[in-house]
Amino acid sequence: MARAVLALGLVMASLAGAVAQGSGSPSTGADPGAVALTDVPGDPARGRAIVADRRKGLCLLCHSGPIPEERFMGNLAPALDGAGRRWSAAELRARLIDASRLNPETIMPPYFRTEGFERMAPALRGRTILTAQEIEDVVAYLASLKE
Ligand code: HEC
Repeated sequence: MARAVLALGLVMASLAGAVAQGSGSPSTGADPGAVALTDVPGDPARGRAIVADRRKGLCLLCHSGPIPEERFMGNLAPALDGAGRRWSAAELRARLIDASRLNPETIMPPYFRTEGFERMAPALRGRTILTAQEIEDVVAYLASLKE
């Protein structure tokens, strides 16, 4: 648990500096994953780059995945391998937008949520960690992971 808390601290510290410029409208609907956030289909290659990027997605701090060039990957969360077999695009999107809506105890950051950050610096309010298009790119990449 101490490691999880440490990882979360690292994630929050790094993400504060890398918050995306708001684009699209953060979802507040009942089923946040059901509808694509943009009209432009996600690009799996860009999604892979976001997942591997230690300053943007930070996914590999907690997850491992089929990204052989990354030597150090996390083991605080399920491997991303096979994510596209286990989950639909809507389920993947919902987890990225705000995993705490599915599991209130989760340590996974909400990548597309703007409300509910009580202690967020005023300059960061209304911004999301990833843009709408970046969420769609990551969803497209994860959906392609069938094994
Ligand atoms: C601070 C740790 C952390 C970070 C960073 C993180 N996750 Fe997660 N993620 C988790 C945990 C823990 C779970 C397990 C379910 C839960 O706790 O909600 C999870 C669950 C998932 C799942 C469902 C996995 C499954 O098959 O059950 C997917 C897909 C996922 N994360 C993708 C991502 C992506 C993509 C990123 C980066 C954009 C990311 N996560 C960043 C901790 C993290």
